[in-house]
Amino acid sequence: MDKSEFTKWSNRATDWGQTYLDGLRDRPVRAKVTPGDVAAMLPSHAPDQPEPMETIFADFERIVPDAMTHWQHPRFFAYFNSNAAPASMVAEQLANTMAAQCMLWQTSPAATEIEGVMINWLRDALGLAGHFTGSIQDSATTATTTAVLTMRERAYGWTGITKGIAGHQQLRIYASAQTHSSIDKAVRLSGIGQDNLVKIPTDENYQMRPEALAQAIKDDRAAGFLPAGVVICVGGTSIGASDDVAAIVKIAKAEGLYTHVDAAWAGSAMICPEFRTIWSGVDGADSIVFNPHKWLGAQFDVSVQFLADPVPQIRTVGLRPAYLQTIGEDEITNYNEWTIPLGRRFRALKLWFLMRAYGLEGLRTRIRNHVAWTAELAETIRALPDFRIVTEPRLALFTFQFTPQGSDANKATETLLQRINDDGRVYLTQTLHDGQFVIRFTAGQFDCTRDDVMTVVEVLADLVQSKP
Ligand SMILES: Cc1ncc(COP(=O)(O)O)c(C=O)c1O
Repeated sequence: MDKSEFTKWSNRATDWGQTYLDGLRDRPVRAKVTPGDVAAMLPSHAPDQPEPMETIFADFERIVPDAMTHWQHPRFFAYFNSNAAPASMVAEQLANTMAAQCMLWQTSPAATEIEGVMINWLRDALGLAGHFTGSIQDSATTATTTAVLTMRERAYGWTGITKGIAGHQQLRIYASAQTHSSIDKAVRLSGIGQDNLVKIPTDENYQMRPEALAQAIKDDRAAGFLPAGVVICVGGTSIGASDDVAAIVKIAKAEGLYTHVDAAWAGSAMICPEFRTIWSGVDGADSIVFNPHKWLGAQFDVSVQFLADPVPQIRTVGLRPAYLQTIGEDEITNYNEWTIPLGRRFRALKLWFLMRAYGLEGLRTRIRNHVAWTAELAETIRALPDFRIVTEPRLALFTFQFTPQGSDANKATETLLQRINDDGRVYLTQTLHDGQFVIRFTAGQFDCTRDDVMTVVEVLADLVQSKP
């Protein structure tokens, strides 16, 4: 295929996409394949000779869609959503076509400058203080790893990046057990080590206990460790728990520690002023990450990291060799110096299209609906015989168990979950909460309706009635 056929095949892909999106509700949400099914349909070697696009496209239609879990299905209530509002998909098509590598201002002036403006738009939309700046990352894991590396280097006076970390005082990072496993990954990859991630006990609301944090820091100093930073949870993955940000930031600041807030999911909801109480005090944090693809509607992937002061992070991960210098422009913003990868995609474009095509008010309405429908669903399930709400709705997330008399609730819940997902009308996943196997429900897909949410009740009723 050459450029002269670009219109033909991109139109064909767009037509396919429209039909796919229009028909999503008629598909089972989760792929109905078993491991190895897809690989068995592919030749074991790449073709030596070119193949016609007609054949390639036909194979795509034959093999791929039915073997995918449909993340844009309006009844996808699993994990956290990964969205793709139509306008952001269009922006992504444009970015794909230009295929720019946006590492420097010079390699992509519009991408760099739109990124800067989008960071400001989002900062203001989320109600953050005007001193925050930031950049776009691929994922929250990368942003958190960058923040943890900054914690490390700040504590070592930026000597770890030059001399290595051997021989230094052992660092300590603090977080609660409600934080995502990306925090564990960040301390592992940064050379700090899993054993030096101190999981601070939580209270009855699953919030980190501030006094336990203060005590742990004191004990660690006395034992010869070097406390470096705290990762604060806002909207944890398992049950949506949030720390008391103000209290934790206050302790961290008094101890000279760097703070990073992981609001990967819940951050999007902060465009609604009424939900901002869950991160009161956030303006005192050093670094904040949230994923607009999770709940705001931006096409996956786009993660935003806000920084109170970018200098410590740029000192940690930034490098400017001669071949990356922009002659005559020493002060120019080159976002690769703010992040781990050198190469960067033009992710800001889809944020620009998203916020303009739906307006902040349109995005707020969706999030408010998700929260309201989640609460309504939780109340309806609470009223069903043999069901128990285990954790109350936090924004658009709650967990529940199936507790038929005389059976083990964990086993009964697990069996029911498998039956729900085999049924295919909705897709839900699980977590382990206080040793209990619970089903997680979260609403967040861009086109999801109240009827889609309430389908969960219909499915539960049908399955309980029909028994396995
Ligand atoms: C609270 C939280 N933090 C971090 C992550 C990791 O996100 P990413 O896939 O962008 O690395 C997730 C993923 O679901 C999450 O829920």
